[in-house]
Amino acid sequence: MRIEVGILGATGMVGQQFIALLANHPWFTVAWLGASERSAGKAYRDATAWRLPAALPDDVATRGVDAATPGRAPKLVFSGLDSSVAGDIEGAFAQAGHIIVSNSRNYRMEADVPLLIPEVNADHLELLKTQAKCRGWKGRIVTNPNCVVVVYAMALAPLRQFGLKTSIITTLQAISGAGYPGVASWDILANVIPFIGGGEEQKIETETNKILGAMKNGAVVNHPVTVSAAVTRVPVHDGHTGSISVSLDQKPDADAIVGAWNSFRGRPQELGLPSAPARPIVYLTEPNRPQPALDVHRDGGMTITVGRLRPCPVLDYKFVALGHNTIRGAAGAAILNAELMHREGLL
Ligand SMILES: NC(=O)c1ccc[n+]([C@@H]2O[C@H](COP(=O)([O-])OP(=O)(O)OC[C@H]3O[C@@H](n4cnc5c(N)ncnc54)[C@H](OP(=O)(O)O)[C@@H]3O)[C@@H](O)[C@H]2O)c1
Repeated sequence: MRIEVGILGATGMVGQQFIALLANHPWFTVAWLGASERSAGKAYRDATAWRLPAALPDDVATRGVDAATPGRAPKLVFSGLDSSVAGDIEGAFAQAGHIIVSNSRNYRMEADVPLLIPEVNADHLELLKTQAKCRGWKGRIVTNPNCVVVVYAMALAPLRQFGLKTSIITTLQAISGAGYPGVASWDILANVIPFIGGGEEQKIETETNKILGAMKNGAVVNHPVTVSAAVTRVPVHDGHTGSISVSLDQKPDADAIVGAWNSFRGRPQELGLPSAPARPIVYLTEPNRPQPALDVHRDGGMTITVGRLRPCPVLDYKFVALGHNTIRGAAGAAILNAELMHREGLL
C-alpha cells in the first residue's frame, strides 16, 4: 500500500526538490501541499517559480496549495519551511499527531530530536522514545542536518575509527542553498561572498558533533572533535564543496583513509532503501576532482564525492568533499530518513 505524504514549504527550493524526488517514489505519494498565506488557495504551478530541470508533474501542478495549519495533511509530512516560521508550525503539526521530517534548523539541536544521516547514526532514532516521554506531542519530529554539514559529517564519519581529533573546513556553497530568489545576481556573479547568514558556521561547529556522537543510556554523547568552519557563497548553481583538514590520533596512511571512504556503508544500504546510493562516499583519484559541474549528480545526487587527499603541514591530512545541497543536503536526506523510519516501523 502506498503512503500518502504532505509537504510543508512545498513552493520553496527544497519543496520543489521534494516534489521532483517523490514523483516516481515506490512508497510515498504526494497528497498535500502547504505554504504561506501568499500561496494558499492557488494552484501549485501558480504559487511556485519552478526552477528544476525535471518537469513539474501534472497532478502536482494543478493541486491546490493549503495554508500551513494542521488538520488536512496526511500523517507523514516533510518540511522545507523557512526557519523563521518552522519552529511554531512544525511544533503545531507534531502536537496534532503528524510525523514531521524536517530540513529546518529549529529542532536539530534539541536533546530529544534525532539529527539523522541514516548511514552515520541510524541508532539516534532511539531519541524518539525520549521525545515521546518529554513532549506532550501525539506526533514526532525528526530532522536532517544543515546542507553543508551532511557533506562534512559523511566525509568525517569513516575517519572516527582513526581517532578524529580536530578539523578545519572552508566551504564554497552554491546559490541554491539560499532558496529562491536567494542571493541577488548583482552580488554573486563573478564574486565570492565570505559570509552566510543564519549562523551557518556555528551550525557546522555544533551539528557535526551531535551527528558523529554515540547513543548512551538513551541520549547522544557528542563526538569530541573540535571543528573550525569558515563559509563562503560562490556562483555555483548546486553543490556545496568543502576544503577540509583533519588531525587523526592514529596517523593512518592515505590508502587506509581512501579505503575507509570507499568501503563505507550504513543501514540504508543494508536495508536496500529506495533512495540509498549504492556507495554513500566515492573517492576520485583525478587531481582536479570533485567539481560541482561534473560530480554533483552522482547516484541521483545522494553520493558524497571526495578527492585530493594529501598531507597537511598544519594538521595531518587535507582533502576536498562535495555533495548536492538540495538533494543529499535537504529533500533527498529527509526522504531517506522517512524510508528508514518506515522500515524500522516508526511511521
Ligand atoms: N536550499 C538548501 O540547500 C537547503 C538545504 C538544507 C536545508 N534548508 C532549509 O530548508 C528550509 C527551506 O529552504 P529553501 O531554500 O527551500 O527556502 P525557500 O525557497 O525560501 O522556501 C521557503 C518555503 O517556506 C514557506 N514559508 C515562508 N514563510 C512562511 C509562512 N509564514 N508560513 C508558511 N510557509 C512559509 C514558503 O512559502 P511561500 O512560497 O508561500 O512564501 C516556501 O514554501 C529552510 O529552513 C532552509 O534553511 C535549505
